[in-house]
Amino acid sequence: MADTDIVAAVKAAIAGVEIPGGDTLGGFRGLSEIIVTRSAVAFALSVPAGMEAAFGPAREAAQQAAERVADGRKVLVSVSSGKTPPGMAPAAQRPGPPQKEAVPGVRNIIAVGSGKGGVGKSTTAVNLALALQAEGLKVGLLDADLYGPSVPKLLGIEGRPAIREDGIFTPHRAFGLPAMSIGSMLTPNQAVVWRGPMATSALRQLLRESAWGALDVLVVDLPPGTGDIQISLCQGVDLTGAVIVSTPQDLALIDAKKAIDMLRRMSVPILGLVENMSYFVAPDTGRRYDIFGHGGARVAAGQLDMPFLGEVPLVMGIRESSDQGRPVVAANPDGAEAAAYRGIARKLLAGTPALRS
Ligand SMILES: Nc1ncnc2c1ncn2[C@@H]1O[C@H](COP(=O)(O)OP(=O)(O)O)[C@@H](O)[C@H]1O
Ligand SMILES: [Mg+2]
Repeated sequence: MADTDIVAAVKAAIAGVEIPGGDTLGGFRGLSEIIVTRSAVAFALSVPAGMEAAFGPAREAAQQAAERVADGRKVLVSVSSGKTPPGMAPAAQRPGPPQKEAVPGVRNIIAVGSGKGGVGKSTTAVNLALALQAEGLKVGLLDADLYGPSVPKLLGIEGRPAIREDGIFTPHRAFGLPAMSIGSMLTPNQAVVWRGPMATSALRQLLRESAWGALDVLVVDLPPGTGDIQISLCQGVDLTGAVIVSTPQDLALIDAKKAIDMLRRMSVPILGLVENMSYFVAPDTGRRYDIFGHGGARVAAGQLDMPFLGEVPLVMGIRESSDQGRPVVAANPDGAEAAAYRGIARKLLAGTPALRS
C-alpha cells in the first residue's frame, strides 16, 4: 500500500475514536500530521496540560484502530501537553520522582554521547559494544541517533526488523550483537518531523518492545547534544552511566562539556571520556602526527573529574572498515585499532564492575 493511502486509511480509522469532552479524534485540533515510514506509523495528540492521563483510553483506541489499517507497520501514538519535561524543571518544582522502569532482561544500559556530531560517536559505540562482547559480556546495541542513524551502515544491516505476532521487534543480529536502529524506522529526511513526543515515543518502543534477550549491557548511541532523546532516556530508565566521545579540539570539548553538564544534572554517572581522532598515523610511514593538538580530552577528563578511558587514533582502517559495514574490532580483532577499543572496554569494566557481575 502506498504511504498516502495508509495516511488516509489511518485518518479514517481513528476519526470515530472518542476523546474526553464528548468529541472525536476526527474533529480534534491536537491531532498531528500522520507520519508513515517503512516500518512505522506515528502521530501525536497534543492535549491541554494535565489532560494526558484522561486521553489514555483515546490513545489506546486510536492505536488499535490504526493498527488494523497500518499494513503490518508498528503504530506509535504519543500524548503530550507540550510542556517542558519534568526532569528539566528545578528539583523543587518536580512533582515526584520520574517513573523509571527497567528493561526486561537488560542489566545495564550505557549511553554513548557527544557534544556534537561527526566526532566518531557511532564508530566508538559500535566498536565499544564489540570490545565489551570480546571481554565476554552479552551486549546489545541501540541506535537512538534520530538525526544521523548510522548503526545500520556500520554493522551492514539492511531493511526493517521483523515484528513478531505480539508486536515485539526481533532485533537484527550482526557480529553477535542484537541491534536496533531508529534509522530503520525512518525514511531519509524524515528525522526533522520526528521531534519531541514522536521521537521519545519511538525510543520507548525500540527500547521496551524489542526482544533483546538477556544482556549484560545495552549500548545506546545517542544523538549529539542535549535533546529530547537524551532527556527521555534519562527519565525513562536507570542508566548505568554515559561514555562521552570527544575529539581533541577545544571546540568539540566545549560542546562535550555541555553534554556532560546536562547528564550530571539528570544524575547520570559519567563513566568516562574517550578521545577519538586523537592523532594521525600516516599509512605509508607509520609516523604519528598530533594534528588536532592531542591530549585535550585527557586533560579535560581530569579537570572534569571523570575517568579518561583512552584514545583512538585517526586511521584510515577505521573509516574504511566502517564504510564496509565491518567494524574494525570484528574485522581485525588483533590489529592496533581493535586494541585501542579493547583497552577502552577494559578500563570501562574496571571502573564499572556492575557491568560484569
Ligand atoms: N578514529 C577514527 N579514524 C578514522 N576515521 C574515523 C574515526 N572515528 C570516526 N571516523 C570516521 O569519521 C566519520 C564520523 O564518524 P561517526 O562515528 O559517524 O561520528 P558521529 O556518530 O559522532 O557523527 C565517519 O566517516 C567515520 O568512519
Ligand atoms: Mg553517529
